[in-house]
Amino acid sequence: MSPTPVSTPIRFLTGITTSGTPHLGNYVGSIRPSVRASLTDGVQSFYFLADYHALIKIDEPARIQRSTLEIAASWLAAGLDPERVVFYRQSDVPEIPELTWFLTCVTGKGVLNRAHAYKASVDKNNACGVDPDSDVTAGLFMYPVLMGADILMFNAHHVPVGRDQIQHIEMARDMANSFNHRYGAHFVPPQAAIEESVATLPGLDGRKMSKSYDNTIPLFSSREQLKKLIAGIKTDSRAPGEPKDTEGSALFQIYQAFATAEETLALRQAYANGVSWGDAKQLLLERIDQEIAPMRARYQHLMEHPEEVEALLLAGGKKARAIATPFMQQLRHAVGLRALSAGVVQAQVKAAKSSLPAFKQYREKDGKFYFKLADARGVVLLQSLGLESPQLAGKSIGLLQKEGASALEALSAQLEPLLDRDALVAALEALKAEAA
Ligand code: TRP
Repeated sequence: MSPTPVSTPIRFLTGITTSGTPHLGNYVGSIRPSVRASLTDGVQSFYFLADYHALIKIDEPARIQRSTLEIAASWLAAGLDPERVVFYRQSDVPEIPELTWFLTCVTGKGVLNRAHAYKASVDKNNACGVDPDSDVTAGLFMYPVLMGADILMFNAHHVPVGRDQIQHIEMARDMANSFNHRYGAHFVPPQAAIEESVATLPGLDGRKMSKSYDNTIPLFSSREQLKKLIAGIKTDSRAPGEPKDTEGSALFQIYQAFATAEETLALRQAYANGVSWGDAKQLLLERIDQEIAPMRARYQHLMEHPEEVEALLLAGGKKARAIATPFMQQLRHAVGLRALSAGVVQAQVKAAKSSLPAFKQYREKDGKFYFKLADARGVVLLQSLGLESPQLAGKSIGLLQKEGASALEALSAQLEPLLDRDALVAALEALKAEAA
């Protein structure tokens, strides 16, 4: 079967784990750039909700369901056009876990030992003096393989990710190469597309905005909520009129992520001129709200009509499977999971037959009847002594064919000493299996 890594068009793929409520950091770092990328011509984009990945971290079913809806609604409200892209839920594509297994079988365990997320857990356990794998599930360990399957399933060329995900993309490349090396060129080794401009957004406390720090601003807060949260952004104690530092100011960095270059320059000037923190926060509120407000109505509508989102995802899942199902069929064939009637098998059975050892019966000048077993190259594995009748020889051969090596003992009086018992046993077992 001919390998089919499709080279055009360029394919982009990205996923978000459905483990929480999208916040401004997700929006700036992932949702907004990926929606923009989806509008580029000549690019085929794949966007999915990584709900299998969520199972690694979350054991609250209702939370996974809710997060899936929230993230899908966020993407759609931010302008993702499900007609233009393939927008789907990972768990609607059962080929992905199947491919995960294929990739598992070509991935070194040592490679996974070195994955950052797994190593971080092990290091933490070691520091606490507990078992290195304490509380580490095999799911966490396998995270990179599932992610590799996400990417390779659609032969994505580029995967837009943050820096923390580069290692995963490199692993996916390795998986593609190992598989291709064994089974032919089926996969395109993917590349990470790093968004240089998308620095990580700081959270309320100045550290990276992240669920795990509990310092996030939800993307679709109401204006009042947004105002409250922005009021809580950490600033220093400089009074109104005192010049402020933009360096290390979370407020400034968040503003910058939403503003044009001129607007950013204007805020820099305001900092230098001693804008009050209260006024600066008001500017930030207005700037964020200007971008988010138009999306809010659509988000609210979708949250209140989950059946609309469900229908879109199911339609997207169909599109995804239109690619995944035949590709998986190709991969199954490549590794040898094939219909038994497929031509190659017959040819192989024939070849295997002709390479089997064979019995020979013959009469010598002494008038006695002999038999022997020789392998395909003619090497004699078993030699009988002279017997009184051809029937006797035939009977012994029948017994060896039926019972294999276990008949040797009963026949020992008819046989010359064995030359290579292991080779003989292997040959007899092969014959027995063939006859069965
Ligand atoms: N690991 C990504 C995250 O933490 C989510 C993800 C899963 C993903 N599979 C992917 C991203 C494939 C890009 C490509 O958010």
